[in-house]
Amino acid sequence: MAVALCRSDELAEGQARGFDPEQRGKDSIFALRHQGEIRIYRNSCPHLDVRLEYRKDRFMSADGQLIMCYAHGAQFLPDTGECIYGPCLGEKLQAVTWQEEGGWLVLQATQI
Ligand code: FES
Repeated sequence: MAVALCRSDELAEGQARGFDPEQRGKDSIFALRHQGEIRIYRNSCPHLDVRLEYRKDRFMSADGQLIMCYAHGAQFLPDTGECIYGPCLGEKLQAVTWQEEGGWLVLQATQI
């Protein structure tokens, strides 16, 4: 089974969006666009396995250049998910495999 998240053109440069494909009432993954490329990661900080955002869809720094964990201020590179500042320095967000189908971002159920 596959799950469509959103249209890829709904993700603006430097912005992120959380999704709840399991419908558990919390966004378990998030997608972002950075330098034109879309990335999808699990919404789990390598530091303490908590969600990153401070409110709905707020995963990025104000300038849209870094992913932030708002629990303790860790910063991650959008293209690799590597932590470059904070308590989980050098660890990585877990990337999720996806594909684009007819302009939609699609995950296989095994990725959820
Ligand atoms: S839980 Fe993310 S920096 Fe501590």
